[in-house]
Amino acid sequence: MGSASGARYPADALTGLDPADGRPLLARYDLASAAAALTADALLGRRSGGMWRWRELLPVRDASFVTSLGEGSTPLVRMPRFGAGLGAPRLLVKAEGLNPTGSFKARGMAAAVSRGRELGVTSFVAPSAGNAGGALAAYGAAAGAEVTVVMPVDAPEDNQVEARILGARLILVEGLLPDCGQVAAAVADRLGAFDLSTLKEPYRVEGKKTMGLELAEDLGWRLPDMVIYPTGGGTGLVGMWKAFAELEAMGLIGPERPRMVGVQAAGCAPIVRAFEEGAEHATPWEDAQTSAAGLRVPSAVGDALILDALRRSGGTAVAVDEASIMQMQRLAGRLGGTYVSPESAAALAAVPELLARGDLSRDEEVVVFDCGIGVKYPVPPGLPPATVVDPDALDVEVLVAATG
Ligand SMILES: Cc1ncc(COP(=O)(O)O)c(C=O)c1O
Repeated sequence: MGSASGARYPADALTGLDPADGRPLLARYDLASAAAALTADALLGRRSGGMWRWRELLPVRDASFVTSLGEGSTPLVRMPRFGAGLGAPRLLVKAEGLNPTGSFKARGMAAAVSRGRELGVTSFVAPSAGNAGGALAAYGAAAGAEVTVVMPVDAPEDNQVEARILGARLILVEGLLPDCGQVAAAVADRLGAFDLSTLKEPYRVEGKKTMGLELAEDLGWRLPDMVIYPTGGGTGLVGMWKAFAELEAMGLIGPERPRMVGVQAAGCAPIVRAFEEGAEHATPWEDAQTSAAGLRVPSAVGDALILDALRRSGGTAVAVDEASIMQMQRLAGRLGGTYVSPESAAALAAVPELLARGDLSRDEEVVVFDCGIGVKYPVPPGLPPATVVDPDALDVEVLVAATG
């Protein structure tokens, strides 16, 4: 394990934040050995296995501790019609909603629960905006571990139900994610549970990293011009940036990098503000509000890592307003055939904004991370009610005129 403080820690002890500076720790691998095993051909031979195809770059030593529900290997979907509608015909969408529990959170929790079990953990706790809690509950259940999930009281109801159906203890907090983090820390302390708060431990980011590994493989060992990622705690973005460095060190890709773009909601945009101010760290956002639950993260433990990746890649940070998120959710449905979460809609809404700013050009290849499915969220405001008809008095012409 290594961190910004320069300190190194043994990999086989359960680890949280760096005791030297309270900042995130990141796993380090013997990349020369990994490169010998993880060749492009060897990967082709590992057709099944999802994200565990990359096991040499994941933090579980003994495969018998892997708890898998089929996470990873999500499709990278070309969306020429939708892309052209947005002004970016070379749009690709990484369909992370096809993971178990409907979001990319499955990857991180699969890695963390598996490694935690290997290191003797029997009880896990995590604060969650919604999707992470569902994912932790699922992997905890499959691994036979106790799970406590702490969500804001107004987290999407489907996420709350999901966590409970999956056997977790659910605690609701009058407050936002940092308040949930405090409750989770107290639970960890009192119950002896391992705290899986975003980037307060080094294992979840390793699972999320596999999104970047898959991206390079799916594009034939190259990377796109731009990657757009809906950024709350930022684990996926930090993980992908780490993945690219590991792939380069292993000789699987060259030094080229995509411009990384972090997208936040205008009602909670601490990373965007820090990016624009040139700050190394983000100051907490007051009165955070957005329908994109996973983006309602007023302060991120990994802020410096996120900002560093955005800057070093030549990328940027974008805030999109609620109206654009809602509009884009409908547009993705109508033109793309995909019902995306508000977080994913925020990331897609950055495409026209980046084109208008001149940060993206029409002929460039851009990958947007669709991190979660839309069906788990409340009905979007403004969606007109469906038409109800009397089957014995059906007048199709009137119906078509009324429903368009
Ligand atoms: C669907 C969705 N997208 C994006 C995010 C933000 O992810 P991260 O915290 O890794 O930045 C979340 C987090 O809850 C999410 O559920």
